[in-house]
Amino acid sequence: MIQKLKGTYDVFGDLSIKHDYVKKLFQAVCESYNYSYIETPIIERSELFHRGVGDTTDIVKKETYDFLDRGNRNNTLRPEGTAGIARAIIENKLYTILPQKLWYIGSMYRYERPQKGRYRELRQMGVEVYGSNNPIIDAEVISLGYNYLKELGLKNICVRINSIGGLETRNKYREALINHFKNNIDEFCDDCKERLNKNPLRILDCKIDNKNKILKNAPSILDYLNEEEKGNFDKIKKYLDILNIDYIVDDKLVRGLDYYTNIVFEYESNVKSIGAIGGGGRYDNLLNEIGGPSINAIGFALGMDRIIDVINEENITIPKDNNLDIYILTINESENEYALELAQNLRMCGYKVDLDITGKTMKNKFKESDRYNSKYIIIIGDEEVKTNMLVIRDNLTKEEEKIDVDNLIDYLDTHI
Ligand code: HAM
Repeated sequence: MIQKLKGTYDVFGDLSIKHDYVKKLFQAVCESYNYSYIETPIIERSELFHRGVGDTTDIVKKETYDFLDRGNRNNTLRPEGTAGIARAIIENKLYTILPQKLWYIGSMYRYERPQKGRYRELRQMGVEVYGSNNPIIDAEVISLGYNYLKELGLKNICVRINSIGGLETRNKYREALINHFKNNIDEFCDDCKERLNKNPLRILDCKIDNKNKILKNAPSILDYLNEEEKGNFDKIKKYLDILNIDYIVDDKLVRGLDYYTNIVFEYESNVKSIGAIGGGGRYDNLLNEIGGPSINAIGFALGMDRIIDVINEENITIPKDNNLDIYILTINESENEYALELAQNLRMCGYKVDLDITGKTMKNKFKESDRYNSKYIIIIGDEEVKTNMLVIRDNLTKEEEKIDVDNLIDYLDTHI
């Protein structure tokens, strides 16, 4: 038996209803904020991620699905959406009309050790805004994700925010961190030892050493922000207060990707064991780093699989609106053509319609209609075909009415 790969899963049945709902609500929320949809390829040239996402990130060091194609070129399955969209902004010169407010959804691939809330094929829903450094946009982006998660019904959503400043600030802070950790680095895990000189900020959010006292007493980046960065961060916080966003400032939050500048944030749910359900931040240098003009940008991605995991853990009910309006049964095979045409006409009038194809006994056919929980059942026999008078049964009350086919739409319009 050929089986699915580790860290991947199939979506069907109840799970597909949840996926569908989660996606559609995200689209609706993004559209209500005036974001337009963008889709980029799942596969890209490897340099895009190896340069853009950052050489010192875990994703690039050990988690990308890299392979040579038949022309001996290095390709990578995208581990995240931001770099691909940045490439598309440059390649399609989308930066000539700014701002660009974009939303996306799709599968990403990371060769991580599968565990609770961690998959190798993961689905992300995200937004990216290009062309504004106004803190209003930072607050809008954060609030879009927050309001979406609230609307889904997830409990106690909290946003952790931090500012990691610009390049100059981070360089000063980097030095301070190296000085702070260097004499005691032996106490830390192997990854942190490697991080000390390459990317000491990542030590701060190490999942292994997070209880270490030396880590807890590390200097705070917030003390290194310059006046402008501080003022910006204060404005964002003020706007988040106005928008009633439940946030906490966490000066240890640094995020796992190298491209961030200034504001960074993560969404957390009640189910802490699943990890962050989303994260993002500003990345004002990324476009320039991958060969484009310097343009401000900010965005986030939500982990759709993790959101579904939280929905399951918290027993959140997803509104099910997939019931059929009408299920059409025929008594004999000779009525099938009539039924086929009727189904088509009703569908074109916007009704959800299905047609019995089981060809079994009447009892079985009714059972089949129960499976779809159809609101109405139309039963067609030779008499109905001859007279065009149809029997329509309300599946809830079991009451039946005889209706001329010409009046059927009027009837349904007033009853459904
Ligand atoms: P990220 O923090 O790497 O950021 O991923 C965003 C979210 O994707 C995470 O918070 C998590 O919910 C989910 N996620 C990540 N890895 C996995 C996994 N292996 N299994 C399940 N879910 C996972 C980014 O990807 C950035 N591109 C976000 C961004 C957009 N920043 C600016 N714009």
